[in-house]
Amino acid sequence: MPYLGRLPLGPLTTFGLAASADQAWQLDSLAELDDLHRFLAATPRPPLLMGGGSNLLLARDLVEPVVLIRTRGRDRLDDDGRTALVEIAAGENWDGVVRWSLDEGLAGLENLILIPGTAGAAPIQNIGAYGVELASVIDSVRAWHWRENRFETFSRDACRFGYRDSLFKQPGQDGWLIVSLRLRLRRGGPVHLDYGEIRAELAAAGRRRGTAAPTAPPSAPEVAAAVERIRRRKLPDPAVLGNAGSFFKNPVVAAATADRVAAIALAEGLGQPASYPAGDSVKLSAAWLIDRCGWKGHRDGDAGVSPGHALVLVNYGRASGAGMLALARGIQASVEARFGLRLEPEPRIIA
Ligand code: EPU
Repeated sequence: MPYLGRLPLGPLTTFGLAASADQAWQLDSLAELDDLHRFLAATPRPPLLMGGGSNLLLARDLVEPVVLIRTRGRDRLDDDGRTALVEIAAGENWDGVVRWSLDEGLAGLENLILIPGTAGAAPIQNIGAYGVELASVIDSVRAWHWRENRFETFSRDACRFGYRDSLFKQPGQDGWLIVSLRLRLRRGGPVHLDYGEIRAELAAAGRRRGTAAPTAPPSAPEVAAAVERIRRRKLPDPAVLGNAGSFFKNPVVAAATADRVAAIALAEGLGQPASYPAGDSVKLSAAWLIDRCGWKGHRDGDAGVSPGHALVLVNYGRASGAGMLALARGIQASVEARFGLRLEPEPRIIA
């Protein structure tokens, strides 16, 4: 297993905040797991397992060992012409997986295009976008326990997926290193167009081509192209401007709480809060709440709030992790003071 020694981690994360690891390893193949187990069993601190580093805020250097998961592999296991089961190694780039599945003529991942990060990290927070969550296509997740040196396969139910949540985020479950995912994808079948802007984006694409209103539902690649355009327009590209996507989760609250927030917004002349139904509860838009507190485009040195999307914190170059964390705490405090809601960060914070 390649030993990388002391390693700067900023370039390995999408936020690009300066931090380093005292000692880092790279996992290229599952044949290396025995070595990894021996090594980790001898270290006093739990390791930081890193995929694409797209959901991490590093606010200090790491004395604990860092393991970069770089295993590769995308396979079609069975295909009955209607659905196909595919197996994806943890180190694969997620967006690459989505594009590969579309090239294979498979549908199900099109709404999840352009999400940064690796396949292995995707189930941990049940990545989701434009009305689809990873949970909807997961068949199973295979994981290796780094303390106990054993494998386990988790069915979709066993993964206990929720909104940006899974078993793998629960206390006491930090021993799992996800090694691969099995996804059940479809040939054809329904596409998900119900999230806000997708239909409008598809209609605009049709107008650009000069075609009349479409009669057939769009194909999965057409939906992917529409989602890609929306994302490129709204979200900063981490290759250009460091960020970790949405920095806070959208708060899921009881209907009475949503009514109370709406009453505050009305009384203050802020309009109607953006919200979505979530079972018996209501998912309020954190972006809307932050925006109404005046944070969009705000900048403290090199730590800022994207001028394009209030939910995305951005690193203009040399922000420190501590500075980014201070900005996030300022946002939390002002949303709490104004609307009485405590926003919960989405990325993993190492402070
Ligand atoms: N809005 C504002 N100000 C802004 C941006 C948005 O008021 O600056 C309001 C608008 O009313 C808009 C609403 O917020 O209609 C929702 O915005 P958007 O459609 O961008 O979605 P979001 O709820 O902010 C979530 C996910 C994103 C995902 C999009 C699209 C979370 C925490 N975030 O954002 O996921 O791409 O929906 O499905 O659930 C991520 O997790 O990193 C991420 C980018």
